[in-house]
Amino acid sequence: MRSSRRPPLLAALAGAALSVVVSACSAAAPDAATAAAAAPPGLAAERFPKPARPVAGIVSDQWASEDSRERAGEAAKVMDLLDIRPGMAVADIGAGAGYYVVRLSRRVGPEGRVFAQDIERKYLDRLRQRVSRERLANVSLVLGEPHDPRLPPRSVDLALLVHMYHEIAQPFGLLANLVPAMKPGGRVAILDVDGPIQAHGTPRALLSCELAAVGYREAAWHWIEGRSVYLAVFEPPAEPPEAEHIVPCGAR
Ligand SMILES: C[S@@+](CC[C@H](N)C(=O)[O-])C[C@H]1O[C@@H](n2cnc3c(N)ncnc32)[C@H](O)[C@@H]1O
Repeated sequence: MRSSRRPPLLAALAGAALSVVVSACSAAAPDAATAAAAAPPGLAAERFPKPARPVAGIVSDQWASEDSRERAGEAAKVMDLLDIRPGMAVADIGAGAGYYVVRLSRRVGPEGRVFAQDIERKYLDRLRQRVSRERLANVSLVLGEPHDPRLPPRSVDLALLVHMYHEIAQPFGLLANLVPAMKPGGRVAILDVDGPIQAHGTPRALLSCELAAVGYREAAWHWIEGRSVYLAVFEPPAEPPEAEHIVPCGAR
């Protein structure tokens, strides 16, 4: 092992970093794409305030059946609205079963990259099998944490969070730790139901408030299905605020 030749502190740090790579690999296969996607940890979960509202439980790896979503043309509509083009690097945060992953992979093409990210090891493992079966060579699998997407620094043109924001147990940590992963000019797009958290949605005012609390600026707002589902686009801050200065919405 390379770490055995290091001084004890360095060896310990290297061991910690390696355990993340191994975690990601064991969840998602020890392939080059997975290892390349492992990123150094961001700020610790304990630094961030908890949201002052409920968090929905993780109950499934998909929002609805892919057939019904295709009939509605969901992914094509969303990718068009976001102007996703060949060569882009897109992170699908909370990728689940991969409805978006396979379509993003085709859209960004061989010069592009898709980071298929989730915090559930079993979902990521199933997704690895799908990625391998469908031979999606431009997809990297990433095992994140509830407060930290664990994406490589300055790697992402667009972070896409679909039907999952209401499940993020540590939204302030996730949003702050996402900032270093964004390329200059990168955007963060969130699709969710404009409804109560308990019904697996995120009310518009709550979403706007939580993003603003971490310094994100709203750049566009699209309604997808009547006025029930939105696609909100944000520009990340150059630097997130100090974690200890973030004030949860509802506690103002
Ligand atoms: C309802 S599924 C949606 C999956 C997919 N985006 C879709 O549209 O079908 C929500 C996904 O978000 C994931 N998730 C929940 N909290 C997360 C977090 N903090 N970071 C990344 N993924 C998370 C869950 O494991 C689950 O796969």
